[in-house]
Amino acid sequence: MSGKDPQSPPPAAPGELSRLFVELLNRYQGELQHVASQQALRAVHARYLGKEGEIRRRLAEALKAAPGPEKKGVGQAGNAAMQRAEEIFQARLASLREEVRQADLARLVDVTLPGRPRRLGSLHPLTLVRRELEQIFGELGFVVATGPQVETDFHNFEALAMPADHPARDMQDTFYFPDEQLVLRTHTSPVQIRTMLAHKPPVRIIAPGKVYRKDDDPTHSPMFNQIEGLLVDQGVSFADLKGTLLHFVRRFFGPDVAMRLRPSFFPFTEPSAEVDIQCHFCHGAGCRTCKGTGYIEILGCGMVDPEVFRQVGYDSERYTGFAFGGGIDRMAMLRYGIDDLRLFFSGEAHFTS
Ligand code: PHE
Repeated sequence: MSGKDPQSPPPAAPGELSRLFVELLNRYQGELQHVASQQALRAVHARYLGKEGEIRRRLAEALKAAPGPEKKGVGQAGNAAMQRAEEIFQARLASLREEVRQADLARLVDVTLPGRPRRLGSLHPLTLVRRELEQIFGELGFVVATGPQVETDFHNFEALAMPADHPARDMQDTFYFPDEQLVLRTHTSPVQIRTMLAHKPPVRIIAPGKVYRKDDDPTHSPMFNQIEGLLVDQGVSFADLKGTLLHFVRRFFGPDVAMRLRPSFFPFTEPSAEVDIQCHFCHGAGCRTCKGTGYIEILGCGMVDPEVFRQVGYDSERYTGFAFGGGIDRMAMLRYGIDDLRLFFSGEAHFTS
């Protein structure tokens, strides 16, 4: 068919044959350079090397036109050209794939960005302990309450049955603000007052948080953490308090750890007790940490004093309640066998990780 095509150059004579193919191959290669997709690449391939492709067509024409003895040479030159065309095609296919890959990479990943650092470290032991306490008491229906660390004299002392001249104030080495009306709270008990002033009974809260006292030695830090508990309802008894604490001790320190209550005094609870648990270090035998007693104090507790109910407007004839409060840091020390409280606040990586 193409022999009659006026556009086609006349079939090449054998001498010109290689020149014809060189031109064709150059054109082929040039076109391949401009394709941007594999689809376009295959289309060009078909136009040159397909059944009706230009290279094949030219070869057939040349073969037809060549005199008998030259046919072999023409065939060989044609085959060499087709082989070369195939190589050009494969090379371009490979480079096109690479171009696509590079474009994908450039779009998806900026390889010059600095690597993402691995997250080092873990939660602070105090955070772990606080969360665990919230979990244990949460299961018993206690919700978390909070209050300010800068407290009024009223919430921190007065409403807790410690009026200005009360000797119990000496028990706590208070950081006072210059006007003496504000203090850094010395315990979490003011959250009891804030909760009861804001809510009618029944209440059932725990209040973990930072507190401040002028202390600084291996077992005391000027800033430390306490957790407060308060439950007020009708018919609450000391047995409820003891049962709640025993449940907590077993869950937190282990099922075999002994707990004991010692009679004590707090202005805002009556009766009051101190809660001791078996020493973690000597298991009750007596050691330096427990000063030979076999027990370590972890909490203060008691039944809410009617005077406190009066301060917040609760009817003490109708309601009773218990409260407890103590050092989270102390609990964490016992739990993890840490002997210096100040390590918690040192920020040292080897301690927290
Ligand atoms: N607030 C007391 C303290 O810091 C502990 C306590 C809380 C005692 C609640 C009784 C009831 O020592």
